[in-house]
Amino acid sequence: YSLKTLNTFGIDVSARYFFEFTEAEDLKTFVASNDSWKEDRMIVLGGGSNMLFLSDFDGLVFHPNSKGIYPVKEDRQHIWIEAGAGENWDEFVQYTVDYKLGGIENLSLIPGNVGAAPVQNIGAYGQEAGNCIETVKGFDLMENTAKEFSADECEFSYRNSIFKRKFKNRFIITSVVFKLDKFPEFNLNYGSVLQEVETLGEVNLRNIRQAVIDIRNSKLPQVEELPNGGSFFKNPVVPAEKANRLKSEFPELPVYPAGDEKMKVAAGWLIEQAGWKGFRDGDAGVHEKQALVLVNYGNATGMDIFNLSEKIKNSVKQRFDIDLETEVNCV
Ligand code: EPU
Repeated sequence: YSLKTLNTFGIDVSARYFFEFTEAEDLKTFVASNDSWKEDRMIVLGGGSNMLFLSDFDGLVFHPNSKGIYPVKEDRQHIWIEAGAGENWDEFVQYTVDYKLGGIENLSLIPGNVGAAPVQNIGAYGQEAGNCIETVKGFDLMENTAKEFSADECEFSYRNSIFKRKFKNRFIITSVVFKLDKFPEFNLNYGSVLQEVETLGEVNLRNIRQAVIDIRNSKLPQVEELPNGGSFFKNPVVPAEKANRLKSEFPELPVYPAGDEKMKVAAGWLIEQAGWKGFRDGDAGVHEKQALVLVNYGNATGMDIFNLSEKIKNSVKQRFDIDLETEVNCV
């Protein structure tokens, strides 16, 4: 089964088995009638926006296609909305903004589907999905039963959750319930967001969404035009003492407090300073406007991109003594 259109890097690979489903019930039936998945390696592939395939996948791909966006509960301050894992993320954000519900407007234009949002706790421009997630629903392949996680049980942190750890390759998300705010406080503190909103007029959800879209379009490549997997690396979190040492040597280095005597360092800056921005080797490259994003100019293989990422890691290590951690899942 070809996965070429199911990964935003556009890598031409295929999977041995492929199972698309819409209901948790489908999974139950599938698991009851096929025990092959247990022996096989398996992955869950939604929009494929955070995946790099290094070779054909000799296993089973679960592809959630559960749809539907509907309000489930309301009080004076909030509305709870449930969205199917197979819904496109940005269309869901558009829906919440149309209904004037705040909480995920800064996460506009992030590629991928709703089901992926809790897995890596998507975040941008001062918001994280985990802050608005009430419940994650799905199917536990090990226990062979439907299961729900409360926000606390999801163990959200920067680009991380329990679905990347203990429940990896075991729990399949079918829908997510978001708790959204009727009277939101806006997040305008990141970078040029406020400035960008003001050029559009009034500070409201619609303009914040548009500002974020404009900022993203000005520096991030659109996957339809230039296939990529978003930020390839995480922004490294280092002890404050180390960040301060680096900062005194490189005063321009962007750093952000990350709690607990720690600082988050801008990986894009490190990579750019190490000379990689705009670099291209064959069809694998580093984006010209955002060095954290690796791109496929056409026919790069997963290994071409991966080898480039290793070279970048080594060079950042040598220059700054910082270990970059890969954000994209390499399969
Ligand atoms: N920077 C450079 N050179 C570069 C890239 C960035 O000097 O090539 C500097 C910028 O000038 C800025 C700082 O680094 O001072 C941060 O840059 P930016 O605002 O573009 O954000 P980022 O830290 O590079 C993170 C997320 C993005 C998210 C943005 C905005 C991670 C791994 N990435 O990137 O998420 O959109 O913040 O919130 O945390 C993604 O995960 O796919 C993604 C795009």
